[in-house]
Amino acid sequence: MKYGLGIESTAHTFGAGIVDEKLNVLAHAKAQFTSATEGIKPSDAARHHFEHAFEVIQKTLAQSGRKMKEMEVIAFAQGPGLGPCLKVGATAARALSIQFKKPLMGVNHGLAHISSGMKSTKARDPVIVYVSGGNTQIIAFKEGRYRILGETLDIGVGNLLDSFGRSMGMGFPAGPRIDAAYFEGKNLIELPYSVKGMDLAFSGLLTAARTKIGKENEKDLCFSLMHTAFAMITEVTERALAHTGKKEVLLTGGVACSQALQEMMQKMTHARNARLHVTPAWLAQDNGAMIALQGMLEFKSGKTMSVKESGINQHFRLDEVEVKWKND
Ligand code: FE2
Repeated sequence: MKYGLGIESTAHTFGAGIVDEKLNVLAHAKAQFTSATEGIKPSDAARHHFEHAFEVIQKTLAQSGRKMKEMEVIAFAQGPGLGPCLKVGATAARALSIQFKKPLMGVNHGLAHISSGMKSTKARDPVIVYVSGGNTQIIAFKEGRYRILGETLDIGVGNLLDSFGRSMGMGFPAGPRIDAAYFEGKNLIELPYSVKGMDLAFSGLLTAARTKIGKENEKDLCFSLMHTAFAMITEVTERALAHTGKKEVLLTGGVACSQALQEMMQKMTHARNARLHVTPAWLAQDNGAMIALQGMLEFKSGKTMSVKESGINQHFRLDEVEVKWKND
């Protein structure tokens, strides 16, 4: 049996994971940067990752019962993400690759979310809704690549929720607390709804909601902010289903854990006779196992990468990658 190690460090999480050649996850561990008052300061998060890198990788290896020398490939998230954070994971992966003479594999973080979502839910050919702090994209596979059909033109939906939560004094990450408040809100307050073709914009919504803090009921405001943002995403996803003729939706990325989003997507897919797949929470949030899984897929497809080619790419778009590991 062959094994692969993956290292994630694109944003707030430093994670490591180990998969086997059949893409089963043997172990994963992570350390997450949090802040009571602020969002992610890249330099602070990078310091956090540097301080925890060794113990997280060690813990993952110990849990898996495998040794470094048994790894067939060392994968890491090459981008997109925060530069200082990406560098920590890339440096750790290069060091291990050189020390243990193992192939290196930089992978796209978004593709790792997609592949791990597909593997865990057994989705076959879905419209993919990739929603996280930094990313919001509606994606479908066509002719050798995952194509971005629509995306945010400004901030990720997770960033919207965290920024608003921070304004409400919820700390970072605010997602889980704001998600709970959603179900307690009752009255919909009108907020800017911004869908432009297949693309979305959230910053106007954030500004408008912030001006209402202290003037409206807090729970109603959380409910209205999320309902508006998720209705925008659901509308674009529905159009993607209609346009592509696909019959499945896959939710992945950290915001896929939102019960509110799941509920709205469930209603839409049910009405269209489509099936909703939700990536399990532990795998939907940033983690090293999904990077290991993506690295193993690409390694098995014959891809190689030299240390020279392993530079980080903060703006790495997933449609840049030719998909050699699956058929149309
Ligand atoms: Fe992510």
